[in-house]
Amino acid sequence: MTVIGALDRSHRPALERLLGATRAFRPDEIAVALELFDETFGSSAGSREVPDYEFVAAFNDAGSLTGYCCYGATPGTHGTYDLYWIAVDPVCQGAGVGSALLAEVERRLQERTARLLVVETSGRDAYDATRRFYGARGYRVAAQLRDFYAPADDRLVYTRDLSSSLQPASRGA
Ligand SMILES: CC(C)(COP(=O)(O)OP(=O)(O)OC[C@H]1O[C@@H](n2cnc3c(N)ncnc32)[C@H](O)[C@@H]1OP(=O)(O)O)[C@@H](O)C(=O)NCCC(=O)NCCS
Repeated sequence: MTVIGALDRSHRPALERLLGATRAFRPDEIAVALELFDETFGSSAGSREVPDYEFVAAFNDAGSLTGYCCYGATPGTHGTYDLYWIAVDPVCQGAGVGSALLAEVERRLQERTARLLVVETSGRDAYDATRRFYGARGYRVAAQLRDFYAPADDRLVYTRDLSSSLQPASRGA
């Protein structure tokens, strides 16, 4: 069973392990993901009511971290949010954890009448399953930047219109 919950500072080692285990991210990308975590949960974290980076976590029955999402309001926009990071422990992939995380992010954003959720991924074959994941969950390719990450490695920008399917809140955070 997947339990959706919150992260705190103590989850940092588990998060670092999970990000490495996916083999989807380079070391410099993992460093950036951990920077966002530290900015939010570290000792010098700010006290803004809505932080720049928000997190949703998934845990198994034993309370171990199985996945997480990081998202935040896109600066300079009205109601647009970026999904900065989503990762599920490889031993738990394909079992609905990523879908549960994404649904929770969407639910939270719809509660605050967000308009658009934006997510980016690579066009490389290695990201086929990731693109299927977004496509099956209502995300559509809004832009494709050819050779963005590297030659033959396009940047795909997916968006999901959040304003059209406002769901009633089903549970608290
Ligand atoms: C992409 C990811 C977050 C999806 O989470 P998940 O828990 O595996 O996804 P779910 O079980 O909710 O959904 C499975 C669907 O996602 C797709 N999928 C993506 N990666 C998959 C994987 N490794 N195993 C099985 N399905 C996967 C399948 O198309 C599947 O579709 P289906 O439900 O029609 O069969 C997860 O696989 C992951 O962490 N991948 C590595 C990191 C990554 O690519 N992050 C996104 C960076 S942009």
